[in-house]
Parts: sequence; C-alpha cells; structure tokens
Amino acid sequence: MDQAAVLRQLARTEKQLTTKIITITSGKGGVGKTSVSVNLALALAAMGKKVLVFDADLGLANINVLLGVIPKYNLYHVVKGIKTLEEIIIHTPEGVDIIAGASGFSMLANLPEKERQNLLHAFDRLTGYDIMILDTGAGVSSNVTSFTLPAHEVVVVTTPEPTAITDAYGIIKAIILEAPNKQIKLLVNRVSSSLEGKKVAERVINISSQFLNVKVENLGFIYEDENVVRSIRRQKPYYLLYPKSKASSCLNVVAARLLNQELPPAGEGGGLGQFFRKFFSLQNKNEAHL
Ligand SMILES: Nc1ncnc2c1ncn2[C@@H]1O[C@H](COP(=O)(O)OP(=O)(O)OP(=O)(O)O)[C@@H](O)[C@H]1O
Ligand SMILES: [Mg+2]
Repeated sequence: MDQAAVLRQLARTEKQLTTKIITITSGKGGVGKTSVSVNLALALAAMGKKVLVFDADLGLANINVLLGVIPKYNLYHVVKGIKTLEEIIIHTPEGVDIIAGASGFSMLANLPEKERQNLLHAFDRLTGYDIMILDTGAGVSSNVTSFTLPAHEVVVVTTPEPTAITDAYGIIKAIILEAPNKQIKLLVNRVSSSLEGKKVAERVINISSQFLNVKVENLGFIYEDENVVRSIRRQKPYYLLYPKSKASSCLNVVAARLLNQELPPAGEGGGLGQFFRKFFSLQNKNEAHL
C-alpha cells in the first residue's frame, strides 16, 4: 500500500466514525496555514465541535510553537509501539486536541504491514471527534497531495500577493488532476479590505473555472491584523488572546460557513439553535464523502 492508500484508508475509517476531515494547504509557503489551522480549530470548538488538529507539516512541527507546547512524543512513538495514540494526544482546555505528526507521516509509506495495521487500528479507536483539521506543508509535492486527496474538504489558503495567487492556482490544478471531484475551498488571508478579499477570490475562482473547469468555493477572507503577529510572539493563538480582533471575527464567519450554518446569536443555549446545529451537522455528515 502506498502512502496515499494508507491515508485513504485512514480517511475511510474516520468517515465511518463521522469525523469530517478538512485539510489546510497552499501553493506558496508562509501564507498562514498553521495560523489558520489552530485558530479555526478554536473557532469550531467555540461553536461546540470536538476538534482534533493533526500537524502533518513534515518540516517544522510549528503548531506546537504557536500553542507554546512542546510535545515529547509524536506519531513516530506510536508506530514504534512506545506510546499509544491516546498518550501522544495533547489536550487543550478549549476542547481542541492536537496530534504531532512531525516527520511521522513521511515514513508511513515504508512501514511494515504490522506497524501500519497497528496505527490504523489505533485510529479506529479514536472516536468522538466531529472534525479533524490537517495542517500541511506548502507546495505541490506528493506529500501534500496525499494529505489533500483523502480529505472530505480541502481549504487552499492564499494571500493577495501575485506569487501566492499563482501558486494557489498551481496546487488546485495538482489536486484536480488527481481528484476531479474534490471539493476545494479558497481562503484569502492577510487582506486589507473585504473588497480585496473578494477580488483575489474571484480571480482564483475564475481561472480555475476557465482552465480547469472546476468550481472552487469562496470560503472567505481574514484581515491582515497585527494581533496575529503579536499572538505568535506570545505563543498563544489570536483567537484566544484577541477574541474581538478583526482576524478572530473573520474566523468566526469562516468556521460558521464550514459548518454550513449561520452564526448563532450570542449567548444562545439549547432550543431551536441546538436543533438546527444538529440538523446541519447531520447534513455535513451526509455531504462528507471521499
Ligand atoms: N492574518 C494575518 N495578519 C498578519 N500576519 C499574518 C496573518 N496570517 C499570517 N500572518 C503572518 O504570516 C506568518 C506565517 O504564518 P504561518 O506560519 O501560519 O504560515 P504557513 O502557511 O503555515 O507557513 P509554512 O508554509 O512555513 O508552514 C506568521 O508568522 C505571521 O507573521
Ligand atoms: Mg505551517
């Protein structure tokens, strides 16, 4: 079994358990994938979802840096039987759990069958998550595409920079060539105005439609916000440090869109809101297909 097949099997396992897998990727590096992954996970958790963030970045495991936690163990130790999957999961008080893949996945393709089965069974037992967010490294490499193809949804992050836009188109093309029906959503990070966000999204959506015949969905935008930089320096996600910031507000919109529901009114408890949340989460589950 090659790496993509392993991941597909993994995704299938997750699907049975109704965990929705969202992969965050980009063409160009440094556009904000990790920052989006962590803060989006927190926004989804704030909306009542149980979220697992999988740090699949094969370079630096920088989710940990963002959160100010240094995991002692990662997937490697699970594969080697030193730790169980449950033991390497980092729990945060906000309801977001984290798995450090580190260089773990690069060795998956070469795992002996027994170790591979052990890992898959470990993931089988990992239940109770509504959403798994996979943070990848940048670029059109087989590693990135094998993380995007098995996902239910792929979010391509770009900035308004022309090179980032070109590379966003490049990664969309690479994904579509391998999986023509893959749902791809675009998120424009670091915009100076909503108009800029709209224009950049339209550009990518239009060229994708024209040259690839694929309908990329506009997931929205995140403002350029100095609180993001400040929060990185303080090693705490901006969604927690600056919940009222422009970037956090944008993430609430993005998270709500991902859940396919309108933002619930502030302070809403059970009742109708709860009913519709369940309704939409069922819809999400029905829509989640490989
Ligand atoms: N909305 C924003 N406003 C201001 N600065 C931002 C914003 N989003 C990201 N940044 C800046 O961009 C930098 C890179 O972000 P991040 O590490 O999340 O990118 P990445 O795509 O994960 O990078 P890599 O490709 O190396 O994994 C951050 O350190 C931060 O300084
Ligand atoms: Mg990153």
